[in-house]
Amino acid sequence: MPSPDARKEPRPRRDWTFGELLDWTRGRFAEVGIDSPRLDAELLLAEAAGCARIDLYLRRDDLVDAAVRNRFRDMVRRRLAREPVAYILGRRDFHALELELYVDANVLVPRPETELLVDWILEDLPADAARPPVVLDVGTGSGAIALAIGRARPDARICGIDPSEAALEVARRNAERLDLHVEFRPGRAADLGRLVQTWAPPDVVAANLPYVASADLEAAAPELSYEPRLALDGGPSGLDVIEELVAAVGHLDPRPDVYLEIGADQADAVTRLLRAAGYAGVDVRPDLAGRSRLVRARRARTRDATGRGSPPAAADEEVEQHRQDDGQEQARRQGDVQGEPVPLEDQIPG
Ligand SMILES: C[S@@+](CC[C@H](N)C(=O)[O-])C[C@H]1O[C@@H](n2cnc3c(N)ncnc32)[C@H](O)[C@@H]1O
Repeated sequence: MPSPDARKEPRPRRDWTFGELLDWTRGRFAEVGIDSPRLDAELLLAEAAGCARIDLYLRRDDLVDAAVRNRFRDMVRRRLAREPVAYILGRRDFHALELELYVDANVLVPRPETELLVDWILEDLPADAARPPVVLDVGTGSGAIALAIGRARPDARICGIDPSEAALEVARRNAERLDLHVEFRPGRAADLGRLVQTWAPPDVVAANLPYVASADLEAAAPELSYEPRLALDGGPSGLDVIEELVAAVGHLDPRPDVYLEIGADQADAVTRLLRAAGYAGVDVRPDLAGRSRLVRARRARTRDATGRGSPPAAADEEVEQHRQDDGQEQARRQGDVQGEPVPLEDQIPG
């Protein structure tokens, strides 16, 4: 039984080692349903301590000083309120870590599946073109796609467009930081015809447009509520902006090749849209989880000035395959957008 005097004494200050802080935070993040609790805890503690992630393990038994603990505590609170790690750090590595992008709440946090879209475009861009390939990134956001292509293909002529001026500022800031010559202009998908007249006819149109159905957004993972609605909301069916783009590219002459990131239940509908717009060859690729998330549409043509040209793909078989997969895809996608809002945590060590 403690004496009355002992009860009045202040509790001894708790000293935390790096290892203890990491373990506590990882456990707390896991409890509230954060997807990658260990990685997130490491990224935030490394940022607070101003060291590399690997150093956290070398310093596992070292005590964490008060200034680092204070910085870390603020970051952990934000993450427990489900703010994305990229906004807390103000940056995101994209495309095999070669591109550190500045990101804030004006732009979507670039996702790993978008790196696969970039890979596909780079695979197809001819290396020995008679003239520089011309690439247009529609809905560029942070500039992720345009800048990743620009980094890999300095010979390409690239422009990113977005209706959000705030997003364009982020994209331009990234181009400057990375010293990449990519142009960014205001515009919506529907403006493509006008843009092409004042810029250049694109060989490739790349787009990761908003594709979440408005109703699904309400039940989506809490992290999405921090991202711009303009970047996510694809209207009642999720396909409004993709339809806007496909209608616009269908009117271009010559038509560009089109590379789209789509929702996991949209491959069939988007394939039909592209074929109705006159694209003979439509191919679909999976993301890292095996879901049909990437679409390429190429028009049939003879070899052109860029040195490109290919026969249309056997799209009928692809469409049939994806029709069969569709039920499963939809079930998985519904699993993607579930999650409960979590109250702000205030029991953080430090
Ligand atoms: C899903 S985010 C993708 C951002 C970036 N391309 C990426 O992959 O990280 C979609 C982007 O499309 C833009 N957007 C919204 N409506 C659009 C429209 N009608 N035409 C073109 N872009 C649009 C948004 O502002 C947002 O930056």
